[in-house]
Amino acid sequence: MIVKHKVKKFLDDFGLLLPLFRIREYIKSCRSVDRCNEAKSLAFPLPPHYLRMLVSGNTSDKLFLSEGRVRSKHIEALLGKHGINLVDQKSILDFGCGCARVLRHFDGLTACELHGCDYNKKLIDWCTREQPFAEFIQNSLKPPLPYKDNQHTLVYAISVFTHLSEDLQHAWIDEVYRILAPGGHLIFTVHGTSTLHNLTVEEKERFGRHELIVKHPSGAGSNLCSVFHPRPWVEQHLAQRFTILDHISAEEHQDMPQDMVLFKKT
Ligand SMILES: C[S@@+](CC[C@H](N)C(=O)[O-])C[C@H]1O[C@@H](n2cnc3c(N)ncnc32)[C@H](O)[C@@H]1O
Repeated sequence: MIVKHKVKKFLDDFGLLLPLFRIREYIKSCRSVDRCNEAKSLAFPLPPHYLRMLVSGNTSDKLFLSEGRVRSKHIEALLGKHGINLVDQKSILDFGCGCARVLRHFDGLTACELHGCDYNKKLIDWCTREQPFAEFIQNSLKPPLPYKDNQHTLVYAISVFTHLSEDLQHAWIDEVYRILAPGGHLIFTVHGTSTLHNLTVEEKERFGRHELIVKHPSGAGSNLCSVFHPRPWVEQHLAQRFTILDHISAEEHQDMPQDMVLFKKT
């Protein structure tokens, strides 16, 4: 474990860790995968394996569809728990949409504007070509987004704040605040206490002192950078301008590996 950590640090110091991580993702995406029957009769095609690997770390058709469906159902259920209906939304933004793993399950919301944005050009190019039910734009790793103030009634970010360095967390929460309509909602997911087994003893202690833990900040935006959010850190650093309506820990769900947080712009 210590040797692995040292090798990673050495590679990181020389700027090699992220390129090697990307090569590893590419090689893994070339392995053969399962096909499932559902994939044969979809309204919109599935993304190529490499794009799926970038967002979900696997290339399985079945997992891509079921993980997206489960997350979309949890978004709907969390809103429903607070008396908020998806069908009443005027404009929904999937921030860090990847290859629309979640957004594709909202294609039936025809009365509502659907938007997706991501900093990865390959993902956005594919979505723009293949997922006609929403408007997609590529943004930069740092804000701003090209949306107007107060434009969206709902923004959600599934497994995105889990890959942002600390300065980016602050910058993006302010930007989401700007583009949310007054009374609008933000749902985002974080690695909470259910994922502590991924931390070293020292990192666990820091987590216990309510510090944000950021592994490999040099890979911010990619899955190489993984971030762990103590609940009090979320309250003190991300919720400042919002009202926290809910924070559901992953332990409360069988099928959702990250905590889900619901904020309201008041
Ligand atoms: C783990 S993937 C999840 C993708 C998607 N939300 C889903 O659940 O399938 C994280 C996504 O966040 C995107 N991302 C990371 N940093 C971003 C940023 N600063 N702006 C927009 N997208 C970002 C990545 O490109 C990637 O598509």
